[in-house]
Amino acid sequence: MQVADSVKDQLLRHFEEKIDKGDAIEPRDRMPDAYRKHLIRQMSQHAHSEVIGMQPEGNWITRAPSLRARQILLAKIQDEGGHGLYLYSAAETLGISRDEMIKQLHTGKAKYSNIFNYPALTWADIGAIGWLVDGAAIVNQVSLQRTSYGPYSRAMVRICKEESFHQRQGYEIMARMMAGTADQRAMAQDAMNRWWWPSLMMFGPHDSDSPHSGDAFRWKIKRHSNDELRQKFIDKTVQQAEVIGLTIPDQDLKWNEAKRGYDHGTINWEEFYQVIGGNGPCNQQRMDHHKQVHEEGAWVREAAAAYAKKKQEKLLNH
Ligand code: 3HC
Repeated sequence: MQVADSVKDQLLRHFEEKIDKGDAIEPRDRMPDAYRKHLIRQMSQHAHSEVIGMQPEGNWITRAPSLRARQILLAKIQDEGGHGLYLYSAAETLGISRDEMIKQLHTGKAKYSNIFNYPALTWADIGAIGWLVDGAAIVNQVSLQRTSYGPYSRAMVRICKEESFHQRQGYEIMARMMAGTADQRAMAQDAMNRWWWPSLMMFGPHDSDSPHSGDAFRWKIKRHSNDELRQKFIDKTVQQAEVIGLTIPDQDLKWNEAKRGYDHGTINWEEFYQVIGGNGPCNQQRMDHHKQVHEEGAWVREAAAAYAKKKQEKLLNH
């Protein structure tokens, strides 16, 4: 018992030394169970968000205003599916199966981003989602490129390259509409009004109300806090809105010279917790659709698994 403990202690000390040095923790490294659990929670929820996020945008593929707009939207949605794949695969290196992650999503044990529980009502919403939602995701994911878990950080590097195209295509939609007719300008402003505050909520509760941030910083899973990243997003996005003539729906938004950033109004955390608690405008629809499509796709998974098994048998018997 004594010997086993000292080996275990040594391995955990090795983990802590790697974290302190800023080295990446790899799947083969010994890691505290709490670190593993923290990452499985965050990475699986991140993956769920990418896949559920395909739903509001998918509804607009057949209603895109031009062939070019449809091609761009299709490319973006395909990217999101790929992001989900990278993140599920990265999470699987921690010892959880894809099936288990999907089960946790379907039983409500796992969350996905609040933002995907709002309806995409007009084409301007597709612009607001690309510009604001992917814009917020980029701010968060650029920071996560330096997360301590190797597979997660490498997935982020790959995802960030594609996110910048997502943000730019959304901003282009908003810019075109703001240069269009009065109705198009009104539609873009209406989308801005509906997506601005839920986008700020994407960064999570204030640091003082974030139960996971302590560990996240201790283990260098997070490199910036929820509020730091939210502030970065606000400061960058307010200027972009001004350039195309959109108004930020926050009458308390004011430049604060001392902090070289914008002060903003109070976020409606009651709404946030309602939405992440399953009571948002589209939670039920998103989950029903995900469950239905998961069932319909069972034959694809079975066929792929049977093919892989056959291939493996062939290799083994060769
Ligand atoms: N939506 C849903 N739940 C959220 C949330 C949000 N925006 N922000 C926080 N929460 C939940 C947390 O999951 C946690 O609940 P749990 O214990 O059941 O998991 C609780 O609220 C407390 O929040 P904490 O701040 O303590 O939790 P974290 O330290 O995990 O920080 C986070 C929250 C900043 C979202 C962090 O998890 C993170 O950085 N996740 C990775 C990024 C991500 O998931 N982005 C989702 C969007 S992906 C996307 O937008 C795709 C793009 O291509 C369109």
